[in-house]
Amino acid sequence: MTQTSSIGAARLSARMARGTAFLGSETAIICGAMSWVSERHLVSAISNAGGFGLIACGAMTPELLDAEIAATKTMTDKPFGVNLITMHPGLFDLIAVCAKHQVTHVVLAGGLPPAGALDAIKASGAKVVCFAPALSLAKKLIRSGVDALVVEGMEAGGHIGPVSTSVLAQEILPEVADKVPVFVAGGIGRGEAIAAYLDMGAAGVQLGTRFVCATESIAHANFKKAFLRASARDAVASVQIDPRLPVIPVRALKNAGGELFTAKQREVAQLLDEGKVAMAEAQLQIEHYWAGALRRAVIDGDVEHGSLMAGQSVGMVTKEEPVAEIIALLMAEAATALGQRAA
Ligand SMILES: Cc1cc2nc3c(=O)[nH]c(=O)nc-3n(C[C@H](O)[C@H](O)[C@H](O)COP(=O)(O)O)c2cc1C
Repeated sequence: MTQTSSIGAARLSARMARGTAFLGSETAIICGAMSWVSERHLVSAISNAGGFGLIACGAMTPELLDAEIAATKTMTDKPFGVNLITMHPGLFDLIAVCAKHQVTHVVLAGGLPPAGALDAIKASGAKVVCFAPALSLAKKLIRSGVDALVVEGMEAGGHIGPVSTSVLAQEILPEVADKVPVFVAGGIGRGEAIAAYLDMGAAGVQLGTRFVCATESIAHANFKKAFLRASARDAVASVQIDPRLPVIPVRALKNAGGELFTAKQREVAQLLDEGKVAMAEAQLQIEHYWAGALRRAVIDGDVEHGSLMAGQSVGMVTKEEPVAEIIALLMAEAATALGQRAA
């Protein structure tokens, strides 16, 4: 190790210290939960390689989550967490499953947690992590007792808000980074970006897209191929074409399914204009359009009509490689960047 790289490595581990203490992992790199992708194989591989894996509960039943946590525990003795979606109708049963397994970290995604959810998680001894899409919400969540925050910008894959990671990081980190650990997510593909967010006060980072093509990821070969071919500009946000028919934006690779979704919105809007469908039914048709679509792409390999959720960092995913190599590379890039900073 040269002097610069050992200085860089020391700086990196100092800047990650708060994040690693919070997570109990070797590095403060979280692999964000990705429905269908973040199951036992990827989660255990991430944690075994010194990152922090998260099981994506998604729409799983409590029984399925129970089995997934149990299986993951047989594959790693390192810490990992579970990501729950706040809208899940069985949220409290899922929290009970996490408590039964003494899961150490529960991440709540998909909106503000309902009353009692934070208390129920904390009562089990687990730490609660929530997404903060704006400074006011970050402060509110801290007042409610969250243990850490994820700040995720619109460069990310999957469901997104309207603001970029760089702006959210500038707005939120200076105000709250001294109160709880904050993990920055969205658009991170290389270690230099990790170093930059750590310099700004982040405790660590969360990446999703970068890990989809890991050797250990069970994503279908077609899904991985689509990632390897894509560049940043292929990962686009879904567009709402009628104010009466709300669409929660999702960032995914362009494909026929995306175009058909636009056509579907036009068709339903026209039925509304003609009074041939009630508003509630029309909105439901739009909401349900993508049901099962991510599974179709990730598991079945239907990359034409399934949902290819991916972030803008997809252009930096260039080959299938083991998780340990991805994490080692990110850490080396971050350490080199920090080593080159003036003392
Ligand atoms: C295929 C895919 C599925 C995702 N599914 C979920 C999910 O179920 N729950 C969630 O909180 N975030 C989900 N995300 C977001 C990731 O957890 C992570 O925050 C995001 O990918 C980080 O941004 P990046 O893609 O730019 O690295 C998903 C992302 C992708 C790419």
